[in-house]
Amino acid sequence: SRKIIIDTDPGVDDALAIVMAANSPELNVLGLTTVFGNVSVEQATTNALILSEFAGYDIPVYKGEAVPVTRTPAPYADFVHGDDGFGNINWPESDKQAQTQHAVDFIIEQVRKYPGEVTLVPLGPLTNIARVLEKAPDVAALVKEVVLMGGAARHCGNVSPVAEANIMGDPHAADKVFTANWPVVMIGLDVTSQVLLKHDDMQKIAQLNPKQGEFLRQASDFYIDFYQQTLGIAGCMVHDPSTIAYILDPSLFEVEQGRIRVVTDGLAIGQTTFAPDDRKFPYPGWDNLPLQKVCMKVRAQALLDLVTGRLSA
Ligand code: BDR
Ligand code: CA
Repeated sequence: SRKIIIDTDPGVDDALAIVMAANSPELNVLGLTTVFGNVSVEQATTNALILSEFAGYDIPVYKGEAVPVTRTPAPYADFVHGDDGFGNINWPESDKQAQTQHAVDFIIEQVRKYPGEVTLVPLGPLTNIARVLEKAPDVAALVKEVVLMGGAARHCGNVSPVAEANIMGDPHAADKVFTANWPVVMIGLDVTSQVLLKHDDMQKIAQLNPKQGEFLRQASDFYIDFYQQTLGIAGCMVHDPSTIAYILDPSLFEVEQGRIRVVTDGLAIGQTTFAPDDRKFPYPGWDNLPLQKVCMKVRAQALLDLVTGRLSA
């Protein structure tokens, strides 16, 4: 089975992604590493421990970075995910404890232990991942793939007209991750905005799989209501679980290759700028950058079926 490390700021859609991964026999989740984002890194760690309890096997949790590498922190997304990150349901804390090793050190250790085998799955701001590159540059050549949720190549942003939340959370870190010499797959709003999960879907999941599904149904109520009430959209967008869907079945997506940079200051801060592979630009800043993959289109119903199927099992 494929080894993955999920770097996460849970978060309701993070919870859906983690339970989906845990329920997928094709995957071996080596650990959950936490980062600030939707909530503080302390709350993210508390939440990751709760999610680790819902997995059918022991998934250790490692606490990571609390603030971005350079910029001042953006506000937490309590208006989207609730104060507790799980839609204000105040789910009881797990008795499990986080490991003492730092998230960044755990990632470095595992990638060196299994060269060419570990896929990193970042679902929050990219601070931990950029720290890995800083601290252990050799790791870039040893990672199998980085499949991340974040950015928007042609779609508009969700926290500014051009910026998606995870990239805005740490734009400097994101620029480092996209321009490093390792294979990145960007799963951003271009595809995640095309797939909507509704209250009815969560109701069905809770009926078929009460053990995990009742928690997920309760946690997602507030999140789905946010999309309906604030954005007028009939369901929540399936952001973070789309990374797991990609790993399980990349044929669901239409992928383009190109170079990606992130704007790190000014009005367009947090924008992911995509330069298609076949275009040459005379202006500096785009030479000698690695070609990365960006998901531009998705078979939405098939992705939704895959997500709900794994959550119902
Ligand atoms: C991303 O931001 C967070 O609120 C979600 O968990 C997801 O990772 C979507 O922009
Ligand atoms: Ca997230």
